[in-house]
Order: sequence, then C-alpha cells, then structure tokens
Amino acid sequence: MPVYSDKVMDHFMHPRNVGEIADADGVGEVGNPVCGDMMSFYIKVKDDRLQDIKFKTFGCGAAIAVSSMVSEMAMGKTIEEAMKITPQSVADELEGLPKQKFHCSNLGAQALHKAIEDYLSKKQPVKQAGKSAKVTAAAKKTGPKTRTAAAKAMGGKE
Ligand code: FES
Repeated sequence: MPVYSDKVMDHFMHPRNVGEIADADGVGEVGNPVCGDMMSFYIKVKDDRLQDIKFKTFGCGAAIAVSSMVSEMAMGKTIEEAMKITPQSVADELEGLPKQKFHCSNLGAQALHKAIEDYLSKKQPVKQAGKSAKVTAAAKKTGPKTRTAAAKAMGGKE
C-alpha cells in the first residue's frame, strides 16, 4: 500500500470545499479512463477572481486529497494565477504523492482548468462564433476539391 503524507491523509479524511455550485460560472469535468475515477469542479468568478470553488470526486483517496488541495490553492486567486496551478505544484503542496499515484494530481489541475475554460468560453461567445464562421467558410472552400479528388480516386466523373 502506498505511503501517504500527513497532509494527503488530512485532506482525504477532511476534504475542503466538497459539493456543487448550482449557478456556477464554469464547470469542468474530467475522468481517468484507466482507473475510471471522475472529478467535477464548479467555480464562481467575480472581478476576475475565483470567489467560490466546489468539487465532487468519485475516486481514490489521492484524487480526493488532490481535489481538496486544488480547491484551497485556487480559492481567491485570479484566473491567470489559477491557470498556473500544475499537477506538480499540487503534489508539492500535499508534501508529495507516491509515484504510482502521481497521475491522480493530473486530474485535479485539469478539472480546475476546464472549469476556467468553460467560464471564459461563456464570457466570450462572440469571439467563438466568429471563429466557427471562419472554419465553416474554410470548409466550404475545400469541399468541392475534396469531392473531386474522391471521385477521381473511385474512377468516377468529377
Ligand atoms: Fe484514479 Fe487516483 S487512482 S485518480
């Protein structure tokens, strides 16, 4: 059995900020296909700062400790600062994670970053719409060429 630091055990036994925010500004969900563990982060943002963070984790003890630590590290931080939280910085704050459990800290940072990206995408819908319009235009341009090549390849007429 892996040996955990006192800090990991503390966050595992007494996780901070567990729950869900019904009217969250951003939600990030990630899962590890290998172990099947799932993590969801909910954030409230005010004046570019993470005003509230909650999480729900269905996973191993390390994943729960990681979620709890990520929520504490990101609370009150600016969006920019929170995006700098990495799996390594989370593991460091937890005073280390056993080597075979390090992948659990990836989930925490990823879920937080996804929640922030979700918030940012909702905040800038106009920019995103412009981008997809460009993609559609580009697809229309290349469409006929692709069909011609496919027709030739199949021995058909253009
Ligand atoms: Fe899956 Fe820890 S074993 S996140």
